[in-house]
Amino acid sequence: TRVAILISGRGSNMVSLIEAATAPDYPAEIVLVASNRPEAGGLAHAEGAGIATRALDHRAYPDRASFDAALNAELEAAGIELVVLAGFMRIFSAGFVEAWAGRMINIHPSLLPLFRGVHTHEQALAAGVRLHGCTVHYVVPELDAGPIVAQAAVPVLPGDDADSLAARILVQEHRLYPRALALIAGGRARLEDGRVIFAEDV
Ligand code: GRF
Repeated sequence: TRVAILISGRGSNMVSLIEAATAPDYPAEIVLVASNRPEAGGLAHAEGAGIATRALDHRAYPDRASFDAALNAELEAAGIELVVLAGFMRIFSAGFVEAWAGRMINIHPSLLPLFRGVHTHEQALAAGVRLHGCTVHYVVPELDAGPIVAQAAVPVLPGDDADSLAARILVQEHRLYPRALALIAGGRARLEDGRVIFAEDV
């Protein structure tokens, strides 16, 4: 499965996916890393790993639809079959999401459906939950509301602040995302009629 990873920043999840994909039996090939921010730290790492990169500065496009069209053209040109969002901090037009329906996933730093949007660790601390975590889900037009592929939970510990919680969860993100991508790319999980169908042997 030909995969593009979309990033906006440091790209630590991207790094974990690139590393996982170097295993000979891994079912996905990372062929493109694209960012809407030319200064994204992850781009240099991807280049160093020999992966094609594209920086599409969203500020250079007059509107969301034209940025999305340019990005879509890059994905099509690279023969991308699955789009993996990893810290991509830009909302897509509904048309783009529909074009990639069932073929685009995201990782979100909470146990969805709790705590959509930003500042999820602050939201979790404010709510007083004792478990928090991360979720890999298919992308649908509604933000952070898509069908869930995989989750990992971590305890909220006494004395945690948003940074300590984020760091504990990030460790789990780096384990979870390569596994979730392998499930999908290996044909063991797929989206059908708005639900994730898992193979019997999962
Ligand atoms: C991660 O916490 C991810 O869950 C969220 O944005 C962060 C990206 O971090 N969507 P990185 O760029 O992968 O290091």
